[in-house]
Parts: sequence; C-alpha cells; structure tokens
Amino acid sequence: MSVIKLDLARRVGIIDRKVYGMFIEHLGRCIYGGVYEPGSPLSDEYRFRKDVLEAARGLRVPILRWPGGNFASGYHWLDGVGPEERRPVRPELAWNTTETNLFGTNEFIQYCRALDTEPYICANLGSGTMDEAAAWVEYCNREIGTSYADLRAEHGFEKPHKVIYWGLGNEMYGDWQIGHKKAPEYAGFARECAKVMKAMDRDIKLVLCGGQEREDDREAFFDWNWEVLDKCADVVEYISYHFYWGPVQGQDTHYSMLAQPYHSEHYLQFLWQLIEQIRRDRRVEHPIKIAVDEWNVWYRIHDNRLEERYDLSDALAVAIYLNMMRRNCSAVEIANLAQMVNVIAPIFTSPEGMFLQTIYHPLRLAAEKSGTIALDAHVECDSYPAEYVGVPEVPYLDALATFDESAKKLFVSLVNLSKEDAQKVDIRFEGGDLAPEGIAHIVSGERPDVVNDFGEENVTCRAEPLDGISGSFAYTVPPLTHAVLEMEVR
Ligand code: AHR
Repeated sequence: MSVIKLDLARRVGIIDRKVYGMFIEHLGRCIYGGVYEPGSPLSDEYRFRKDVLEAARGLRVPILRWPGGNFASGYHWLDGVGPEERRPVRPELAWNTTETNLFGTNEFIQYCRALDTEPYICANLGSGTMDEAAAWVEYCNREIGTSYADLRAEHGFEKPHKVIYWGLGNEMYGDWQIGHKKAPEYAGFARECAKVMKAMDRDIKLVLCGGQEREDDREAFFDWNWEVLDKCADVVEYISYHFYWGPVQGQDTHYSMLAQPYHSEHYLQFLWQLIEQIRRDRRVEHPIKIAVDEWNVWYRIHDNRLEERYDLSDALAVAIYLNMMRRNCSAVEIANLAQMVNVIAPIFTSPEGMFLQTIYHPLRLAAEKSGTIALDAHVECDSYPAEYVGVPEVPYLDALATFDESAKKLFVSLVNLSKEDAQKVDIRFEGGDLAPEGIAHIVSGERPDVVNDFGEENVTCRAEPLDGISGSFAYTVPPLTHAVLEMEVR
C-alpha cells in the first residue's frame, strides 16, 4: 500500500499557467500543413486549420512560442510581413528546406488571438543583428509614428500587437545553430540586444538562452549558465532550459524513459540555485525564473520532419514531467511543449483530418484539471534504482496535489509507472472536509507501446465516478495509468 499525505496548509507555491505553453516552429509540417494550410477545405478564412485550432483550444494554451527553434537563428522577420506576392521564397538553412514566408509575424499574432494565447517570439541572435531585433519589437509593439510601427499599420494592423515575451536566441551554445556562439560572446551580444529591445518597449520580458546538459561534459551546463547570467541577470526575466529525452540504451525502455524527468529535475533545481546565487551576488532585485521553452519525449526520428508517433509510455512520461515542473513551481514559470502540431507533437494531421496522439491526454488534463496552488504532497511508495539517469531511486507512484482556491477543488495527479502492479494508495487529507463524491480522469492502455492513429484511439481519457471519499480513503491506480482525481473541499 502506498501513502499520500496532504495538508491544505502545507503549500509549495503558486503554479503559473504559462507552464502549459506550446511551441510552433517552421519545421516539417508544423506550420505549413499543421497550423496553416491554404486551399484546404478544413481551413478557415485565415487559412488556419479549424480542426487543429479546436484540438489546440482543448489544451488551453496560455503562451505560444514561435518561429523556432533552430529556424529562428536564420529567420529575418521582414521576409514574412506585407503583401504575400512580395514575400521572398528562401532556402531554409536550419532544416534544409524552402521557406515561403506565407506565415509571418501578423499571421502568428492572428493565430494567437484565435487561440486566446500570449505570443512569445524568439528573436534571431544567430544570423540576425541587434537593429533587426529592436526593429521587430518596434514593428510589434510601438504606437504608430515611427517607421516600423507605421509599416505594421500599412500592413493592416494599426494597433500594436503588444508582444510581451521575447527570446534572446535559441540554443546559441550548439554548433548546429546558425551563428552559434561561445558563452562570453553570446552573453555580450544578448546584453546589447536586450538593451535596445527594452529601450523600444520597457514592458517586454526577455528570456535569456540557457545552457545545454551534456553527459560528456557536466561542467558545460554550469559554465554557460554562470557566464550568461552573470553578464545579463539585470536585463532579463527568464533563462531557458531545454529537455528532450528517450529511454536509456541498455536499460528497460519503459522504466528508463519514465526515470528521465527526475534527472531533469536535478538540473532544474541546480539552475534555480545558480539563478538565486547570481541574483544575490549581483543585487538583482527582480525575479528571474526558468522557461523550459522546449521539452518532450523525442528519440525516434531525426530527419527534417520529426513526425514521432507516441505510445502509452511516452504519455506517462509527459504526465510525470508536467507533475515535476509544477512541483518545482517556484523555479519554473514558463514551459513550452515542443511542438504543438505534427513535429514531435500531440496533434497529428493529414490533408484529410487529424488524430490526437497519446501525449495529448496528459497535456489536456494538466491544463484543465489542476489548481494554481501546489501542495507539499508526502508520498510513501516502492521505487526502482535509476543510477543510469543520475538519480538513486525513482518512485513507482508519481504524485502532484494542487488546490483551486476559488472553485474549492483538490486535484491529485497520479502516475503508476509499474507495468504489472496496481498501486493501492491511501490518501490522507487534512485542512478541510472532502465531498464524498468526485471524478477520476483516467489515461491508460493495455501495453506500454500502444499508439493512436487516424481513426484508431487506443489511448484516450475517460472520466469515472469516484466515491467513498473521506479524510482518509483508498484509491487503486491500475498499472500503466495516469489518473487525476478531482475532489471538492467543503
Ligand atoms: O524542436 C526541435 C528542435 O530541437 C528545435 O528546433 C531546436 O531548438 C531543438 O534542438
């Protein structure tokens, strides 16, 4: 029997809804053929795929990152604004394709408005200049009266778009990145870009490019983050962190895949300590939080389409990662799943239709069935050794408890990692009375490798009544199951 002890008075912090964010990049069929498809009977008057938009609305996306990713480091935003017939078709060098520039800044903003989400633009700090980055802020955010703001009005958008979130480049540490830089060079350039971008609009919030975890060079993560934060902490509000994972070679596919979020948690906590130390040393008064602005399971396909098919293990891994980020809500304020459509994505299209991949369901549940207050859940359960990802033990039961103060609802998000054994959990709650009946939202399936496809939904989410709830009650989580218990606090 596992035990979870919860007390309404023991709180970890406030979960920012921006952790349910998504990312769309000019890569494969994410934008063209996913988000945007001219000439399709499935598209609306803006050429946005209506079926995709509806599925994306189900994810209640609070913030959407664009245009990349690696694509951002070679993208010149002026190519993608103004009359379509004058937009250049260019070779796209990050993913070795061709870019038509039909989807540009204004299309992105219109998409964000249709999705009711906050735009987050990643500026080009690879092949781009500081003038170009500042001009992009001017085009998007300034009232008319200066040249790029006037150009926006000429393009049909008199009112500023007011884009608050801007990235200072993408993965600038990596040799694969167009215009990649060593840490001191990047830090100096990012600082100068930040200065002019903020001079253009004082209200914007900037995401500094954080370092990469490397198994072969653990110090690289520290060195990069230290250098860039030390130089730029006073001019940024966030630092990015990317995490993609798959199973560990030579280990059990399922269990090693599900251990990875705990490995990532170590890095996030380490980065958080570093941020706080630099803030103290440099006397930076404003908070700096982590933006996990690319994360997902990704290990099968490495071409220039990245059309990964997800199975049940992947869905459970995504559920654990979402629990983990919210348990660390003091540090993590933004997260963007990479990516939203077709490219390592929960929504998968063809010209004729779409289906929801397995990972869609934990993402939807997290965005829909969660409170904003993270509780300090005490969990007692069996675990398995996972030294191979740098953590001694991984619990078979992953848990996050949240409270929605206004709706007076308690949500307990559980993942039973075990392939064979059900977990009987004794849930003990203090700090209020629970209504005797609630709802269990369940994502499950028969085998770890079961997938969804067009017209074939093997992994979905179902709701079951939950009764017999009291201050101490038992709930059994079947093997290979993610369950979110929704309960009323009286
Ligand atoms: O999301 C796919 C790619 O992964 C992004 O373009 C890049 O930032 C990362 O390496």
